[in-house]
Amino acid sequence: MKVWLLASAAGLAVAGCSPGPTTIASAPPPAENHTPVAYAANWPEAHSPAAITDAATEAAIDALIAKMTLAQKVGQVIQADISAIQPDDLRKYPLGSILAGGNSGPNGNDRASAAEWDALVRAFRKVSMEPRTDGVAIPILFGVDAVHGHNNIPGATVFPHNVGLGATHDPELIGRIGAVTAAEIAGSGIEWTFAPTLAVPQDGRWGRAYEGYSSDPAIVAAYSAEMVRNLQGPLVAGKPLADDKVAATAKHFLADGGTEKGQDQGDARISEAELVRIHNAGYPPAIDAGTLTVMASFSSWNGAKHHGNKSLLTDALKGRMGFEGLVVGDWNAHGQVPGCEPTDCPQALEAGLDLYMAPDSWKGLYENTLKRAEAGEIPKDRLEDAIRRILRVKFKLGLMDGQPDTRGNLSVIGSPAHLAVAREAVAKSLVLLKNEGSALPVKPGAKVLVTGPGADDMAMQSGGWTIGWQGTDVTKADFPNGQTIWEGLSQAVRDVGGQAALSKDGSFSQKPDVAIVVFGETPYAEFQGDRPHLDFTGEGLATIEALKAKGIPVVSVFLSGRPLFVGPEMDASDAFVAAWLPGSQAGSGIAEVLVAGSNGRTKRDFTGTLSFAWPAGCEPGAETLFPLGFGGSYTAKPTVPALATTCSLSGGSRGDGFAVYDRGLQSGIWAFTGDTGLVNLVGSGPGFKATAFDIAAQEDARRLTWTAPASLQLRWDAQELPQTAALKMRVSVAKAPAAAITLKALGDKAKGPLDLTPTMKLVEGKGMRDIEIPLACIADGAVTGVEIASAGAFVFELETIAVVPQAAQMDCTGPF
Ligand code: BGC
Ligand code: BGC
Repeated sequence: MKVWLLASAAGLAVAGCSPGPTTIASAPPPAENHTPVAYAANWPEAHSPAAITDAATEAAIDALIAKMTLAQKVGQVIQADISAIQPDDLRKYPLGSILAGGNSGPNGNDRASAAEWDALVRAFRKVSMEPRTDGVAIPILFGVDAVHGHNNIPGATVFPHNVGLGATHDPELIGRIGAVTAAEIAGSGIEWTFAPTLAVPQDGRWGRAYEGYSSDPAIVAAYSAEMVRNLQGPLVAGKPLADDKVAATAKHFLADGGTEKGQDQGDARISEAELVRIHNAGYPPAIDAGTLTVMASFSSWNGAKHHGNKSLLTDALKGRMGFEGLVVGDWNAHGQVPGCEPTDCPQALEAGLDLYMAPDSWKGLYENTLKRAEAGEIPKDRLEDAIRRILRVKFKLGLMDGQPDTRGNLSVIGSPAHLAVAREAVAKSLVLLKNEGSALPVKPGAKVLVTGPGADDMAMQSGGWTIGWQGTDVTKADFPNGQTIWEGLSQAVRDVGGQAALSKDGSFSQKPDVAIVVFGETPYAEFQGDRPHLDFTGEGLATIEALKAKGIPVVSVFLSGRPLFVGPEMDASDAFVAAWLPGSQAGSGIAEVLVAGSNGRTKRDFTGTLSFAWPAGCEPGAETLFPLGFGGSYTAKPTVPALATTCSLSGGSRGDGFAVYDRGLQSGIWAFTGDTGLVNLVGSGPGFKATAFDIAAQEDARRLTWTAPASLQLRWDAQELPQTAALKMRVSVAKAPAAAITLKALGDKAKGPLDLTPTMKLVEGKGMRDIEIPLACIADGAVTGVEIASAGAFVFELETIAVVPQAAQMDCTGPF
């Protein structure tokens, strides 16, 4: 049984009130300083290639700037998201750039085709290039997050997330992945990707750890130039990139992976020396390779937000490291600089930001910045330098002399040659951590049971940033050219005369020779993936143990965005493979390494080794079980050290209570009645639908909608809780239900259902409210979950649901 501590979601860090650090001209102090001021002399030298700043291009930029009106100048430094702007808006608001965030698709459709993306980009571009009566028309620059392949587009090639690519230790492969990804992005008419992430994650609790290649700066440095060079291709003075190339983004500058407790958008409290040595490692190679853009990080360094840190954005990055391209902001992140709002922030521009990412705040930002510019409050040189950098990128992309109607090459998207690169990446990313007995490789002719929650689940194997931002609702239909792990394994097993069966829960009719249990984390992105500890709390162990009890050898395939404490699972398994978040080609890629052909050998042996250390416990700072670089193969069997099978968490113990769902973070299992294993509470069943909903941050709540009588279950591990414990929910109800709504405990000590109708009436129209129900009102002992049923139509929003040790009152008559 797992032990939880009271999970509190990491909130968004907003910096304290330290003023934005400015340049100090005196001699640099030693690099050990702990102030938020960077001294350029402590930084490595680098330089953007001269091909970005050739004299002819610079002269053309001068001529354009001379023609631009003040309104066009201000518009040029602002980027809007497609969910909040229409092409027509560009006639009145001459913005410089458009992005499509993780949840934004053409015409509100997350599953739009490549052709629809291509048409959307052309629609924006066309308006931006219409001849104007004043000033000069400048084409927009369009960016997306293609962070593991062109992941927003159904049928595109989806690669393993960077954590898996780190395990391949293969920069040449990274280069080929960059080339494939660029061809697919450009193929859909888009010219800019917000990748690669050059974070050097130091704490696995960070929800974006999987976006980083490694905790080792040397690996990140070795990959960064390869990725940039192959996304963009060679840079030639006066010539645009090739048609199948796109602009890269080195992100997030800086130390996004160095924040305290691994908190997303948090604060890295480290010396300048550590900032340079660890977190800056990937930037000089990316700059030398010609990265056209760098994205500033949401996070802070020693209390100062990067978006307002001139010593970093200007002195270190553009000065000492010679970066001549554009610095783009992150999603409204300028609004977190002290004294700023998303709609008003001259401080960020002054600090060195060139292009504000103002997804939904662009109009206010444009109006306020224009007012300030007209009043002479915006330094002209800085504004024009920002525009110059944006125009350099547009020239290099061939936009300035391009035709608004140029179409992408749709045929390359998800091509067989591209899929083969992804398959190779999957196979090379697998890390063999344990292989006792003879469970692996799977022998020709074997009877194989494939089971576990991740066995046949395209979302779990793909992770966040796939189709949507969180990646939670990806289905097989999104990647008809991919295979789930079950599909790939079963085909390989049958190809060599074996039998394969899929089972959700590990049950079987014919005893198998070996079972492959695929389990792990469910998808998440950004802060929704932050965790208070490293314990793996998902489903899997019970299935492994049940199979072992029946004498069946078990191979565990673990899907995760980071190494986690899996002592009990690893101990109970005969073989254990870390498969990370392998993407759409996981099935065939994994089969190549796990299933032997008729000659008794697999197509490929394991070659992956860890690019992050694997923890021996679940506490932050736990000892290392396997060091970075560890990984076995069929020829070099891995040696597993003594395993801890329990982990105790400081600050938490049984009886402390726990959060089951807290602002997007989920540790229990949800299911519609009759269903099992619905993940992350997004999806629908008969009469019922759960969707993401925003309260204070993106997707930090769920909207639960009943259209007909239906029930929803929420289950968790049984806990020994005090008699005084209560279930606490934070909800909002716009309109009380017409028919009865009830709550019932799950578990053999459950009492009858409790009527919640009067409570919902009380909450009606009052915004977010806490409802607290003593557990003693719904059960006589341990509760393993609850069932919420509605006899008719009803909608409410849920922000948290937790079990607390001490109820405020023990009365069961309600309303609660
Ligand atoms: C993320 C960036 C991303 C941007 C645009 C932000 O929330 O931090 O990595 O590029 O959104 O989607
Ligand atoms: C973006 C994220 C952003 C979120 C806001 C996504 O579309 O890519 O970066 O934080 O939406 O809802």
